[in-house]
Amino acid sequence: MFLAHLLHQAGVDCVVLEARTREYVEGRVRAGVLEQNTVRLMHRLGIGARVAREGLVHAGTTLCVDGEPFHVNFADLTGGGAVTVYGQSEVMKDLNDAADRRGIRVIYGATDVTPTGLDTRTPVIRWTKRDDTQDLECDFVIGCDGYHGVSRASIPAEALETFGRVYPFGWLGILADVPPCNHELVYANHDHGFALASMRSPTRSRCYLQCSLEDGIDEWSDQRFWDEFSVRMGETFTARITRGPSFEKSIAPLRSFVCTTMRWGRLFLAGDAAHIVPPTGAKGLNLAVADVVVLGDALAAWYGAGDDTGLEDYPRRALDRVWKAERFSWWLTNLTHRFPDRDQFERHMQIAEFSYLRQSRAAQTSFAENYVGLPLDF
Ligand code: PHB
Repeated sequence: MFLAHLLHQAGVDCVVLEARTREYVEGRVRAGVLEQNTVRLMHRLGIGARVAREGLVHAGTTLCVDGEPFHVNFADLTGGGAVTVYGQSEVMKDLNDAADRRGIRVIYGATDVTPTGLDTRTPVIRWTKRDDTQDLECDFVIGCDGYHGVSRASIPAEALETFGRVYPFGWLGILADVPPCNHELVYANHDHGFALASMRSPTRSRCYLQCSLEDGIDEWSDQRFWDEFSVRMGETFTARITRGPSFEKSIAPLRSFVCTTMRWGRLFLAGDAAHIVPPTGAKGLNLAVADVVVLGDALAAWYGAGDDTGLEDYPRRALDRVWKAERFSWWLTNLTHRFPDRDQFERHMQIAEFSYLRQSRAAQTSFAENYVGLPLDF
């Protein structure tokens, strides 16, 4: 949807195919932290009024190891940098409402989407909606359809290059209408495993616990969740935790994945279709946005001046940022989680690294500049 708006601004026609309903897209609980690049793009696209009003600007975060917290001040370390806490569902509402106003075509409930002719100048995309099958001839197909989508699957296996790892744990997340235990996020490493205190508003908490992939959701009553969350957050925060019934609870696996084949013929991959990060660095949504900023420029240059250098260069430019976000997310996951197959030596390495981070401005600066978002030119 970000790309649809970028193309609309450049006067390029596009059609967005969405398998789900609009209600699903706008209701699904996903990411919550926007880099300043993402917020800047929302303003540039004229959809920034609500995030400016309702987004929570966080100029720092707290890291906590075995109950000992320390604060990292993004603003001080990065010359005024910050992130904005604003749910992905809210971003989707802003994008969709503006698409309505601008006449951007979004077809919801498009199933059996099949691209063909991707290695020709006139790809065709076919889809079905309510038993009606349609074909659309186009110049380009942009695969923004996620890890399980049809786009990457349309690239011949011999042309695909992928890298990745699956982590031996998941994240159990809840939403509850209780005030967060801290005014900023808290990332906690505890002997029992990772915990994260996040939020969606001053009255809505979003909290996570590292859990076993074998755990079922029914094994985690609210009582058990809050008990374990308190233990992992440690004494400083326990007294500030307000418990309340969860109204959303789910377990998500963690993986790192990069498909370096971000272009095949007239197909371009963006976002989760090309790469997955574990949620620890809050990079997933922001990385997808960075992809389409590069791609939007390249497509505008192709339509405007017949210049295809931007399209040729898209994988290289996008991947440079993707690998850095992969590294940061992988590093923070390694630093904060308990790995069942690792021994006490590695636990000591984690504790030593936290101690170093606590004492070193240089180490904190590296963390902070990655967290608020590496520079993005646009
Ligand atoms: C969230 O609020 O959902 C959230 C925040 C920070 C993360 C991951 C998820 O690193």
